[in-house]
Amino acid sequence: MCGIVGYIGSNDTKEILLKGLEKLEYRGYDSAGIAVKNDDGVSVFKEKGRIADLRSVVDFSVNANIGIGHTRWATHGEPSQVNAHPHQSTTSRFTLVHNGVIENYAQLKREHLADVNLVSETDTEIIVQLIEKFVKEGLETEAAFAKALKELKGSYAIALLDNQNEDTIFVAKNKSPLLVGLGDDFNVIASDAMAMLQVTDEYVELMDKEMVIVTKDSITIKTLAGETVARDSFKAEIDASDIEKGTYPHYMLKEIDEQPAVMRKIVQAYQNEEGELSIAKDTLDAVNAADRIYIIACGTSYHAGLVGKEYLEKTAKIPTEVHVASEFVYNTPLLSEKPLFIFISQSGETADSRAVLVHIKELGHPALTLTNVAGSTLSREANHTLLLHAGPEIAVASTKAYTAQIAVLAILAEAAGKAKGFEMKFDLVQEMGIVANAIQTLTDDKEAFEQIARDFLSTTRNAFFIGRSMDYHVVQEAALKLKEISYIQAEGFAGGELKHGTIALIEDGTPVVALATQENVNLSIRGNVKEVAARGANTCTISMKGLEEEGDSYVIPHVHELLAPLVSVVPTQLIAYYAALHRDCDVDKPRNLAKSVTVE
Ligand code: G6P
Repeated sequence: MCGIVGYIGSNDTKEILLKGLEKLEYRGYDSAGIAVKNDDGVSVFKEKGRIADLRSVVDFSVNANIGIGHTRWATHGEPSQVNAHPHQSTTSRFTLVHNGVIENYAQLKREHLADVNLVSETDTEIIVQLIEKFVKEGLETEAAFAKALKELKGSYAIALLDNQNEDTIFVAKNKSPLLVGLGDDFNVIASDAMAMLQVTDEYVELMDKEMVIVTKDSITIKTLAGETVARDSFKAEIDASDIEKGTYPHYMLKEIDEQPAVMRKIVQAYQNEEGELSIAKDTLDAVNAADRIYIIACGTSYHAGLVGKEYLEKTAKIPTEVHVASEFVYNTPLLSEKPLFIFISQSGETADSRAVLVHIKELGHPALTLTNVAGSTLSREANHTLLLHAGPEIAVASTKAYTAQIAVLAILAEAAGKAKGFEMKFDLVQEMGIVANAIQTLTDDKEAFEQIARDFLSTTRNAFFIGRSMDYHVVQEAALKLKEISYIQAEGFAGGELKHGTIALIEDGTPVVALATQENVNLSIRGNVKEVAARGANTCTISMKGLEEEGDSYVIPHVHELLAPLVSVVPTQLIAYYAALHRDCDVDKPRNLAKSVTVE
């Protein structure tokens, strides 16, 4: 979380930084700031709130060709103007932005900065004060920067300006993402290439514990020991139009609508010349060599993993467990003899998942990452990667990445099963086409879901989603989507579990949304709907063609029931979207959240 940008070149930097930060707002949006440097020195502008709020405090008459910027998701210290980045050293000589968490900041303060009066509550200020202290003790800026970096424990992506150093941005990275972008007569830095696509598509990746000396004509990558490192640049393969909203009011709605196209794109991406779905041989061998698969993920990706487990067990017959990443390191289960770890992560940067990856690599186990972002940390550090091909997902609430993750897991399971000689239950290419069409039918029928949101959720403070079997996995995601963006307290339950406690919460008018897409549990989930209705619940049943009953609120088109999650989740995404809209919530940037959670 938190996004950083920097520019050094011949043009005025303010607008480049602000536009870059707008593209990074998905990483955090509780406060923001920029620092720009010209012959008169460094000017810092920062404000609590969004980039739009920052714009209102920037003095646009200050012209400068060097600058750094930051959009924050608070960890240490509340969101406020004073805690917003950039932070400055006591003499204002050094100005710094930081993404990450410095775990030993209290110790560093005690040991090195006892006599320094800190103005913010952030861990970041420690870094900039430390650099100034080392310079005061006689070091050059670069050496002081390196020395300070060696003291830091934790994660960081840092950009530093030195008031007495005309034409340099000092940059460093450890565990938090950071790229240096190359241009003619300028260079930039960014947490994500998306931020600086406006000026360049050529980037150089940084590795952990590297620092970079960036001028307008050169970049020099060094290890903390001072050795220079050579590295080729790469072209960021993001279409600038993919990251624009176009005519859509919100990214979330655009991304929901993109799902049929994403389903088709995934099938194409994984089809071989014979038109069959295929997975790289080494990846498949790794899957089939495993005696047990451990899926590790967070949030929506975890929910996709729950569906993936069903595929891997039913289609490839590999025992599979799904774990919330943040718990795994502490509550590591007894591992099998030949485990394979599958990390599912839209961003490929989630710190909780990465912590598990580091842990299991130390244990010597193989890892496969499913991610939407080629070259992301979780992709680079795993032995194998499968890409989601969903295109950039900008809305904080994940939609198309969830369905993409499930689709890729289905393809992986099928390929693994086929390689083992198992007979497939259906033709996945054909069924995915049916799925894409079914999703299209739903996204073309938005008014119906707007009405459901109005009827069932416009005034409530809480809501329940129930389902059984595959539907149980989907209702957990449905509840997360609703609470994330509408702030309605929502929970997803296994239909049969409700009566073991939670049914006590049902009172007159409590909304209960049931999914009914699985034939073998249709009667049971219908029974659960009756139980809650008898206790006053306002029920809404979304069923699948062939299983529908009179009184159902919506009937989705028929697809193979193993693939039903790809389709049944769409009404719940749209219902959450409209419920949030009806409540005037900021759909794309819900309070307290960030899309890329790079702190544990
Ligand atoms: C954050 C986002 C969620 C996402 C989760 C995992 O909490 O708000 O939408 O599901 O992180 O992110 P990942 O990038 O690892 O899928």
